[in-house]
Amino acid sequence: MFVPLLFCIYSFVDHLFFTCIVALLYSLYWVGLAIVNMIWAWPLFSALAFAGFCLNGYLDDFVFDYPRWPTTSAMTVEHPDEARQSSTAAWLDAQRAIIDFTFFSPPGAPLPDAPTRLELRAQANARLVRAFGINNSLTTSSTRIHEQFRRKAARLINETSQDSGRWTRLYNLAEGALKRDIVLTLIAAEPLGLADCVRRMCLAVVLVDNFGDEAIVHAEGGVLGKIAARVNEVWVGSKCDQGGEGGKDEELEEMIAGLGLREKRGQGEVLRVGEVLGIIMPQYETLWRVVLLTFVTAFHRQPREENAKRVEGVPGCLGEEDGEALKLAQVSSVPPGEEEFGLTLWKQEGLRLYPSNKRIYRARGIGMEGQVSGDVEACHRNAEIWGDDALEFRPERFDGLSDMQKRAYFPYSMGRHKCPANQAFGNRMITMLAVVLSRVLSPAVGKVTFGDDKLDGDAGAALPTGRDELEAWAMEFF
Ligand code: HEM
Repeated sequence: MFVPLLFCIYSFVDHLFFTCIVALLYSLYWVGLAIVNMIWAWPLFSALAFAGFCLNGYLDDFVFDYPRWPTTSAMTVEHPDEARQSSTAAWLDAQRAIIDFTFFSPPGAPLPDAPTRLELRAQANARLVRAFGINNSLTTSSTRIHEQFRRKAARLINETSQDSGRWTRLYNLAEGALKRDIVLTLIAAEPLGLADCVRRMCLAVVLVDNFGDEAIVHAEGGVLGKIAARVNEVWVGSKCDQGGEGGKDEELEEMIAGLGLREKRGQGEVLRVGEVLGIIMPQYETLWRVVLLTFVTAFHRQPREENAKRVEGVPGCLGEEDGEALKLAQVSSVPPGEEEFGLTLWKQEGLRLYPSNKRIYRARGIGMEGQVSGDVEACHRNAEIWGDDALEFRPERFDGLSDMQKRAYFPYSMGRHKCPANQAFGNRMITMLAVVLSRVLSPAVGKVTFGDDKLDGDAGAALPTGRDELEAWAMEFF
């Protein structure tokens, strides 16, 4: 069809008028024929395409039924169960690779070196530097600062673990803070805002634990509550920070400076605001959401007698002198020899359902725009891995984890940059705080409401976990 058309143009240009007319007619004939053919063939092509689409959908949905995350090897596996397992395993490996940095090396090559790993993490956390002015292991690309901070964190954690009376003191402090909040709420005749109240309690405990000054809890004008609320607002706001100047929050700076915190239990220089936030953020920010969600789930949404029994010995059982793992000698309801295990399972399940870091972020590459992230929450809740009851709070599932479940559980990250609190400290703190809440705000004294028809009406509905989705939760006292 195109040859005569070209010939026509050529002829016209060449002033061969007659040849040109013949060629034009000839090309019109071919164009017409093509259109007629298309009209005739259209229904046939459409029918073939539709059949292919249906067949493909059928194979995908009913024969293989593997999830829609990227996989290559799974497509060649014959047996549906194998295909499903293989694709889930491939997806899990991809999440793990981002978190442990193997994603950034070619297969078989060694991990990126320490400065590169730190830089990949620091770039992804740059918004925290702009918003809070913090300079710690999580935001630095300097191996010196990283090591220094890690040592300081380890010191703080070990100090706490070796003081047997410490957990009881912290428990009493948390209980006191909570009871004060309740009295104020009852005077005001309002429901108790749970997110605010849990944030205040966690902040008070973290500050006293790190700086040793119990007077902080009684700071004038409810300043702890205001600091906790402001930190949350700045954190949420920093998520929208697209790398601009941003800037620190003056009100927050003033309130923290006003506390006059010193490093060594009231001695030494007053710390700068950035230093205080650098120390407390990895602790306070990882605590309050998981504590609130675990408390509400284990004691109000899915209450079971075993859950309360497992933690009967708290806080006495949390203290230890010999550096061994937890001892729960006072837990009479758990069979002898299994006390430690009972508590371990309980807190592990809280962190499975509600990991403090829902995702762990890395920069796409050094100096590159954008981020990649390992989805911790999705790994902890995947029904292919954990079963159909993946969203239920069932501590006993940790009695015997499959290999895949062990690989899919990493609330404290993994590999070279695993959190130093993973050994016992973080779990103890979560358990202690959730148990205080369960005793002071037990179902016997009030009812948790969610300000949401679906959650209020259906006790089985899964709880949302985003920090801005917990703000309406309240305790209404009977
Ligand atoms: C519930 C408690 C905690 C949880 C769930 C938690 C979780 C995490 C996670 C997921 C990371 C890895 C972040 C990343 O690589 O991007 C991390 C790192 C870290 N955490 Fe924690 N954390 C907790 C408590 C603490 C406490 C109490 C401290 C210090 C006193 C602490 C200090 C650190 C430090 C220094 C790192 C950096 C480790 C490194 O890169 O070598 N964390 N934490």
